[in-house]
Amino acid sequence: MEKSLKVLWVISIMITHQLAFLVNASHSKKKIVPALYVFGDSTVDAGNNNNLNTLAKANAFPYGIDFNNCSTGRFSNGKTFADLIAIRLGLPMPSPYLGVPKSERHQVVTGINYASGSCGILNSTRSGDCLSLDKQIEYFTSTVDNDLPRSIHSKTKLRHYLANSIYLLSIGSNDYMLNYFKYPNGTNNNLNPEKYADYLLRHLASHIKKIYDLGARKFVVSRIGQIGCTPICVIRTPDSQECNEDINQKIKYYSDKLPGKLQEKAAFPAGLSLEKFDSG
Ligand SMILES: *[C@@H]1O[C@H](CO)[C@@H](O)[C@H](O)[C@H]1NC(C)=O
Ligand SMILES: *[C@@H]1O[C@H](CO)[C@@H](O)[C@H](O)[C@H]1NC(C)=O
Ligand SMILES: *[C@@H]1O[C@H](CO)[C@@H](O)[C@H](O)[C@H]1NC(C)=O
Ligand SMILES: *[C@@H]1O[C@H](CO)[C@@H](O)[C@H](O)[C@H]1NC(C)=O
Repeated sequence: MEKSLKVLWVISIMITHQLAFLVNASHSKKKIVPALYVFGDSTVDAGNNNNLNTLAKANAFPYGIDFNNCSTGRFSNGKTFADLIAIRLGLPMPSPYLGVPKSERHQVVTGINYASGSCGILNSTRSGDCLSLDKQIEYFTSTVDNDLPRSIHSKTKLRHYLANSIYLLSIGSNDYMLNYFKYPNGTNNNLNPEKYADYLLRHLASHIKKIYDLGARKFVVSRIGQIGCTPICVIRTPDSQECNEDINQKIKYYSDKLPGKLQEKAAFPAGLSLEKFDSG
């Protein structure tokens, strides 16, 4: 049973560097890759939503109760899995883009976190204000065009830096929870679950392509977890509760088709190689 396992799909074009980041660097303080850039939703938001007009904020107790009892805006008692990957890479936990003053952004060369709780792959997925994936990539484009060149002066060095860094995307659950399942007569509900998954994956791939076109080559893309087992979806009876398997079945198309989508030659002309691992 793969119930609580989060399967990450690791893509790398530079096969020689593949999975190098899984080596444990935290003991040596030596960086394995130059930077970790994070895109996504509340699963990896590190505080961007603190700066937005939304109820989807996690800046109050008991969030962060295991993070020095400090609620940073992470939707978690402690670190997110993006933070844990950064630590394993020997990097600092990437700061939220909106939390770094504009005048200091050019100094940050170990990665930035653009993730924003309650947003999704689609522009139409949101609850209150949040950074859509489109907006997150717009900010990343500005990082690449305006901020990084101020610290990395050589064009060749910047190209190597971008190609060797890791780009993590953890997004998609809200496209179901706050979109597809939420509005019975929503714009996308004419699509059956499989077609909706195809639709989301097409958008996801075109967004990844934008990051790729800016020079990124190594991606970690997470599938969608079992939404049917989250507290708001479980089916409760007086003396038990069980996962909503109807929901889990409907979202399964997305996770099943993700690896194939990322390997499509049409989307990524150079081709991608894929490794699957369970992070437990
Ligand atoms: C990685 O290194 C840290 C620091 O030495 C250690 O606490 C941790 O257990 C190591 N993790 C693994 C998976 O080896
Ligand atoms: C953690 O923070 C909360 C809210 O600020 C406070 O009420 C609580 O006493 C703190 N807990 C500890 C162990 O410091
Ligand atoms: C999403 O919104 C952006 C502007 O924020 C726009 O450029 C883009 O075309 C939109 N995408 C879709 C699929 O509507
Ligand atoms: C959805 O469509 C059905 C059938 O057309 C209609 O009866 C229902 O009122 C609509 N629900 C909402 C929330 O618009």
